[in-house]
Amino acid sequence: MAEKKKRDHFGSKIGIIAAAVGSAVGLGNIYRFPCMAGENGGGAFLIVYLGIVLALGLPMIASEFMIGRRAQKNPVGAFKALASGAKGWSIIGYTGVLCGFLILAFYTTVAGWTLESVYKSVINYYHGKDLATIEQGFNDSINLTFRPLLWQAVFIFISAFVIAKGISKGIEKYSKILMPTLTVILIILCVKSLMLPGAFEGLKFLFKPDFSKINDQVLISALGQAFFSMSLGMGALITYGSYISKEDNLVTTSLTVGLSDTFVAILAGIIIFPAAFSFGIQPEAGPSLAFNTLPMLFNQMKGGYLFCLLFFILLVIAAWTSALSLLEVIVSYLIEELKLSRRKATIYSSAGAFIISILAALSLHNDSSLTIFGLTIFDGLDKITSMVMMTLGGLFTVIFLGWKVKRQDFENEFTNGGTVNMRLRKIFYYIIKFIAPAAIAVIMVSQFII
Ligand code: PHE
Repeated sequence: MAEKKKRDHFGSKIGIIAAAVGSAVGLGNIYRFPCMAGENGGGAFLIVYLGIVLALGLPMIASEFMIGRRAQKNPVGAFKALASGAKGWSIIGYTGVLCGFLILAFYTTVAGWTLESVYKSVINYYHGKDLATIEQGFNDSINLTFRPLLWQAVFIFISAFVIAKGISKGIEKYSKILMPTLTVILIILCVKSLMLPGAFEGLKFLFKPDFSKINDQVLISALGQAFFSMSLGMGALITYGSYISKEDNLVTTSLTVGLSDTFVAILAGIIIFPAAFSFGIQPEAGPSLAFNTLPMLFNQMKGGYLFCLLFFILLVIAAWTSALSLLEVIVSYLIEELKLSRRKATIYSSAGAFIISILAALSLHNDSSLTIFGLTIFDGLDKITSMVMMTLGGLFTVIFLGWKVKRQDFENEFTNGGTVNMRLRKIFYYIIKFIAPAAIAVIMVSQFII
């Protein structure tokens, strides 16, 4: 009991939403979503993605919040506490902690590029340059050794700085300022991009589905992207759930988080594709989409200097609030299960993540031999975490909630002890128990068969 009293909690409803939306909205939305949509047929991908968000994502966000709030513990401790003595379930929690490290590794690398881009914007590097020169500059920077690592170190440091302060005075306080700023910047950019000549082609690419393009690759990519974007399947939302107060309505909170996340991804698409089409950049261009297309957009705009700077600051903010939740998964585990102080836990976990992120960054060098499964370590970590670890983690999390956690516990959490959402609880229970596990399993298995 004494331990429960000491547990830090989010201080307000707005604080919870800011922090959880902050976790969900990140490079996954603004950088990865356009890449995935671009590689997987645009509109076709978007339709599948939206289906997955509505049918699986939203219930799964609530599931993780429920597990965390019920247990009042980090992911490892939560699976132990709610498994009524059955051994083995905590593996899901351990995998989540590991997944946190692996995601942080490549996430930090991309976050480093965002800092480099802020720097380039400040010195007005992009001004007057053509696309080929900007792309060349981007590749040259990635191929440097120390500079990318320096930016990565800076990024890890600012994340660790907030995490060391804890929940209400750290994560919550910063998210409450950073998230509204991000939303305002996004909306301004959206309007600007839509005003470009040829913007309509980009919108068509994103919103007009060509159903013949839907195949198993699109399905698994959309599933992986949905899990990645909503921070599912690795314990981040279990951890944040454990800091949510008993009075908060978990269902409305989950809806707000899932829908805001999706809204931001679509906004990012509306910013990036019209610009890409307008400048003749292929939608399959990958990292180039966010990092090179947009400076071109800004180059041609009145006030471009300012917007360029704003955009990259926005990317840093988005990455920062997500990295907080990734770190907090590891830190809460180290504090509660291994009894470290918050300070030590923060130092060890950020140092560990930084070390793996060095490998991810170096693996992108043109002459690098750092590969796994035939991919660079960077791409390998991205694929293994989103398409395998998070989807499997999500699968076992819903199986756990549907089949292992006591029905009474589920209902208590879902309805706040019988005061809210009484009618929804049954439908929800059946989605979690049958539909979600079956759907995830089918998508994963189809991948192997085909
Ligand atoms: N959801 C974050 C993004 O979209 C990434 C993330 C994944 C954060 C898993 C926490 C946990 O960028």
